Amino acid sequence: MKASLMFLLAPLMASAAPAVEQRQAAQSVDKLFKAKGKEFFGSCTDQGRLQAGKNAAILEANFGQVTPENSMKWESLNPRQGTYNWGQADYLVNWATQRNKTIRGHTFVWHSQLAGWVNNINNRDQLTKVIQEHITTVMTRYKGKIYHWDVINEMFNEDGSLRNSVFSRVLGESFVDIAFKAARAADPSAKLYINDYNLDSPNAAKVTRGMVANVKKWIAAGTPIDGIGTQGHLQSGQGNGLAQAIKALAASGVKEVAVTELDIQNNNVNDYVAVTKGCLEEPKCVGITVWGVRDNDSWRPQGNPLLFDSNYNPKANYNAIVQLLSQ
Ligand SMILES: *[C@@H]1O[C@H](CO)[C@@H](O)[C@H](O)[C@H]1NC(C)=O
Ligand SMILES: *[C@@H]1O[C@H](CO)[C@@H](O)[C@H](O)[C@H]1NC(C)=O
Repeated sequence: MKASLMFLLAPLMASAAPAVEQRQAAQSVDKLFKAKGKEFFGSCTDQGRLQAGKNAAILEANFGQVTPENSMKWESLNPRQGTYNWGQADYLVNWATQRNKTIRGHTFVWHSQLAGWVNNINNRDQLTKVIQEHITTVMTRYKGKIYHWDVINEMFNEDGSLRNSVFSRVLGESFVDIAFKAARAADPSAKLYINDYNLDSPNAAKVTRGMVANVKKWIAAGTPIDGIGTQGHLQSGQGNGLAQAIKALAASGVKEVAVTELDIQNNNVNDYVAVTKGCLEEPKCVGITVWGVRDNDSWRPQGNPLLFDSNYNPKANYNAIVQLLSQ
């Protein structure tokens, strides 16, 4: 603010600095979502983003939950056997804990961004032990501090079959039970999730034959799965489909569902409203996480898919969610 303007406005301003909410978007979608009985409206981030621009200020004022975008992936945390790089993950956990933001831990068993040494294992007992040790080590360090964990990520093909990965090749589908049981034992207070993408239509084979049929079967067999995460990397026009799919996923017998990585290309306000409404109307849907703060920091910046523009201004997408949640 220019000094002259400051002089003019000074008598009108409160003596304290303006509330952080007023310096970012006027209303917090997290507070509004919680007022409707939901648990969080969050975003992904990491140390680099938290230390740049207005990201931390916006997350602090407008969101209630953070997911590490990259710092807790296997290749980042545990790139060589026995070697853990905690720096960035610790930074995020400390930042969030000090500000009372809940954390979704992301992610343990995933074929991508996996450490090379794990990808080369071809022995059942060895891979079982490695999965158990990795999960136990990470969850023990952050015990009581991480609210949700994405224990398994992206394990299904589009036709609902098991994706080919080191995990499915060496262990068949038993890696699911191994991973969830290790996670439950390491931190019984954490909610344990299975997460995937393209769960964007209730009739998609990946939803019906993949996620729903298998989660039902695994829960019946005693695998401790609490929730299904639907990532929600959408094109415009897919919002209603995702909202319907939330209901189908909730009917799998799981305790809860979350939208975990939402971004919608081509600025479609209606799709953001449809997804938020879909979560609002499904009692088992506990929260929504968008995948980044401002458009040009998105992993797919084309189509400006987020809630804040590249200058950190709240967009029509954000304001439409505020309007929906204010009704
Ligand atoms: C922290 O957040 C929880 C739930 O998100 C809330 O119930 C609690 O009141 C908050 N505590 C403070 C000190 O803001
Ligand atoms: C994002 O956009 C802002 C504003 O135009 C610009 O200053 C910044 O360098 C951009 N960052 C990236 C990663 O493109």
